[in-house]
Amino acid sequence: MIIAQISDTHIALDTPDADRRIQDFEATITDINRLDPAPDLIVHSGDIVHNGRLDEYSQSVATLARANAPVYVMAGNKDDRTNLRKAFAGSGYLSRDSDFIDYEIGGFPVRLLVLDTKSATSNKGDFCSERIERLTTMIASDTSRPIAVFTHHPPFDVMVGPDQVNFETREIMSGLRAALQQSGRVIAVFSGHVHRGTAGHVETIPATVMPSVATTLRKGEYPDDMAARPIYHIHRYDPAWGFSTQSRIVGV
Ligand SMILES: [Fe+2]
Repeated sequence: MIIAQISDTHIALDTPDADRRIQDFEATITDINRLDPAPDLIVHSGDIVHNGRLDEYSQSVATLARANAPVYVMAGNKDDRTNLRKAFAGSGYLSRDSDFIDYEIGGFPVRLLVLDTKSATSNKGDFCSERIERLTTMIASDTSRPIAVFTHHPPFDVMVGPDQVNFETREIMSGLRAALQQSGRVIAVFSGHVHRGTAGHVETIPATVMPSVATTLRKGEYPDDMAARPIYHIHRYDPAWGFSTQSRIVGV
């Protein structure tokens, strides 16, 4: 099982680097299409667009339509749930029983749970009691397979960069962490949002964060010749070893 994770494309149509963001997104999809063996699926872990606008989503849908593998999207803080749902209405996988965009991707040896950590009032993450309940129900619905979870906001202390806690409060993050640990079956957490590659853990669960695909928004130190080369993550699953994560540099 191979997952290509992309994140934080922040498509905008009226910023000076708008073209660069579109090119980064397109080059990343082109690179994923060339992978051999091909990934089973692509997950975009949020902040697809920068202002939540329908025209930004139309641009993003057009880029994602070029992907050979099935694509799954989720909401970041910059996404607008209503417009995201409109843009990806034909996909059929977005949750319909709630405003929150959380759902399971089935059909693989590992269950993939996509969560919604968007806050109504902040760019930081939120995870209210309703979402904890929905997550707990999803986890309990199948006890036969391990689980990997995608969250836009990383549910661990990020020890590089300015924001150690990427949720509105530490208590909110702790609530999500407790829900992830409870079953003992969650084996990996994959996130975005902080625009830099880093890793941490949710107690014993390994957790990774991928850099932003948008190179103009990427944080961290890179050599000049990397300036226009996006990075994305490939997560490969092995039943004995769990997930191994590769940072893939577009254009190698
Ligand atoms: Fe974000």
